[in-house]
Amino acid sequence: MEDKMLIRGGKPLSGAIDVQGAKNAALPVMAASILLKGQSLTLERVPNLHDIQTMAEMLRYLGTQVSFKNNCMTIDVPEKLKWETPAELVRKMRASSLVLGPLVARCGRAVLPLPGGCAIGSRPIDFHLKGLTKMGASIELEHGSVHASSQGRLKGTTIELDFPSVGATENLMMAASLAEGVTYIENAAQEPEIVNLANVLRLMGTPIKGAGTATIKITGQESLHSAQGEIIPDRIEASTYLIAGVASKGQVTVRGIEPEDLNALLAKLEEAGASIDIFNNEVTAKWAGDLNGVSLKTSPHPGFPTDTQPQFMAALCLASGTSVVNESVFDSRFLHINEFKKMGAKIDVQDNVAVVTGVSKLTGTEVHASDLRAGAALIILGLAAEGETLVCDLHHVWRGYEDLVSKMRSLGADLELVP
Ligand code: UD1
Repeated sequence: MEDKMLIRGGKPLSGAIDVQGAKNAALPVMAASILLKGQSLTLERVPNLHDIQTMAEMLRYLGTQVSFKNNCMTIDVPEKLKWETPAELVRKMRASSLVLGPLVARCGRAVLPLPGGCAIGSRPIDFHLKGLTKMGASIELEHGSVHASSQGRLKGTTIELDFPSVGATENLMMAASLAEGVTYIENAAQEPEIVNLANVLRLMGTPIKGAGTATIKITGQESLHSAQGEIIPDRIEASTYLIAGVASKGQVTVRGIEPEDLNALLAKLEEAGASIDIFNNEVTAKWAGDLNGVSLKTSPHPGFPTDTQPQFMAALCLASGTSVVNESVFDSRFLHINEFKKMGAKIDVQDNVAVVTGVSKLTGTEVHASDLRAGAALIILGLAAEGETLVCDLHHVWRGYEDLVSKMRSLGADLELVP
């Protein structure tokens, strides 16, 4: 797939797109297949993305058979699996660490080289490790890898997370599904992706209560069984297109979404002056005259998602007045700002707070994506800017957006991939 895109900006987007399955829901649900023995997991609405291929490669490496066609994935899991994960795959994608909990719960041991992923600040996995330790696993760090082991089954317990980490909540939910007894996760993440994972684990035979609230109760089982599940619609993809519609002074409808999952974003779009229409599973965002600046702070769900902060900031660059964007989930998730400035945006940063002073126009130039959502934000900025924008390092974007070029073109975007 090409790594550069040329965008001729200044044309309002208009039309409707169908939303893909959620990348961040599909990754943990795929990892949950590891809990099975001689059984299979079938999943509908799996997006065809680089990150999904990386997780499929990981599962194949461990010994499963993965087939993937027309967004339907079947993972056949044999009795025996490998428990050591390859560094190339883990470094390629941070979410590879989601295999740690299920591997140690089902194989009694696991080796995980410390993960890589998006360049958005230091992203340790200490909460995952602390939780697994509380369940009775021994954890050692050797030569840059985590070695986890368990004498017999993990033990159900109460784990209070220091922060409602999405990945830690998911890893521990999966591990607890094969533990002896009941596990409570307190201060759990409440994202819709957590609810999706709980629903699939339930279909596999794990009784789970409270997913989507701060306390999740998981009753561990000796073994789980084959299941057929479904991935929820991708709220971050949907948000990206809605913001692109408003930033380009147009109107975009996303179809097949759970509108409630977008509440925090829709409230901010409205506050900035966009008009929002919700009809069943469709949401339309429409530019209704110049945007005004708004302030926001990212926080765990149901707060404003950090994964739409760069895209929303792109829209705010052209709003009148001042916006204050406080990034409270990740350190250094402002790598897009230097690229925004190359196009004429006025932004001052102090620590995790960015003050955006709206300008009346942006001008296209060559910019580089530093991570997945920063890349999406630069595409939005290119669509809203005058002249031609060349967005480079698009490999980050292919990790998370299915058919982006054809979806954007169907909305009237004037863009093409260049070699
Ligand atoms: C997931 C999403 C990612 C999103 C993030 C926050 C997937 C595959 N990725 O990432 O797109 O941006 O949620 O909504 O679902 N932390 C620690 N120690 C830990 C774990 C996390 O300090 O053990 C910190 C992180 O550095 C970060 C914060 O907690 O500052 C939130 O991270 P977390 O919720 O775990 O994000 P991920 O699960 O990695």
